Amino acid sequence: MRPAGPADAAWLAALAERTFRETYTAENTPENMERYVVEHFGPARQEAELRDPRMSTLVAEVDGRAAGYAQLARSEPPPPVTGPAPLEVVRFYVDRPWHGRGLAQRLMAATADTARAAGARTLWLGVWERNGRAIAFYRKCGFEDVGTHTFVLGDDHQRDRVLVRRLD
Ligand SMILES: CC(C)(COP(=O)(O)OP(=O)(O)OC[C@H]1O[C@@H](n2cnc3c(N)ncnc32)[C@H](O)[C@@H]1OP(=O)(O)O)[C@@H](O)C(=O)NCCC(=O)NCCS
Repeated sequence: MRPAGPADAAWLAALAERTFRETYTAENTPENMERYVVEHFGPARQEAELRDPRMSTLVAEVDGRAAGYAQLARSEPPPPVTGPAPLEVVRFYVDRPWHGRGLAQRLMAATADTARAAGARTLWLGVWERNGRAIAFYRKCGFEDVGTHTFVLGDDHQRDRVLVRRLD
């Protein structure tokens, strides 16, 4: 597990786009997927995020190759998030060959450590209500469901579960 920096932008953009597509293509229209991907992924966008002082990115590497990544951000939490010093887990993606093998738990532990070191006391995230595997994983990691918020994918307004975990 290591922090990512601007030099990681190119491969991170490729991994982020691919894992996003693999996760959501089956249940969304091609038009909505393309719109979201164009707006959110690409080396310039990822480099800007890696330089953004409000964000931090962690990469999980296996034998020197990226196997997953997590991004934290100081963002405005939605109303259901009421805990102290909140930090958002904006993205949390593990590459398919590593699903179910414990790597996601290690990435989450490193993410929580990074958040604590940044002074956070509450981790929160939004996860699509249809993403049963991710919801089951987050519950195993100690997250609790506190409500919903809206996530916009293209022109589709989707319902995300909002999950929260206290860090202390
Ligand atoms: C979400 C993610 C990080 C979890 O990592 P993982 O290694 O797959 O997680 P685990 O296998 O430890 O835990 C998943 C749990 O969900 C269960 N599960 C699998 N498919 C499921 C489904 N369709 N519905 C509900 N639960 C499911 C598994 O059995 C497992 O529970 P168990 O350990 O009690 O058996 C990983 O699957 C991933 O990167 N997915 C694609 C990206 C993504 O969805 N990211 C989250 C965005 S918010």
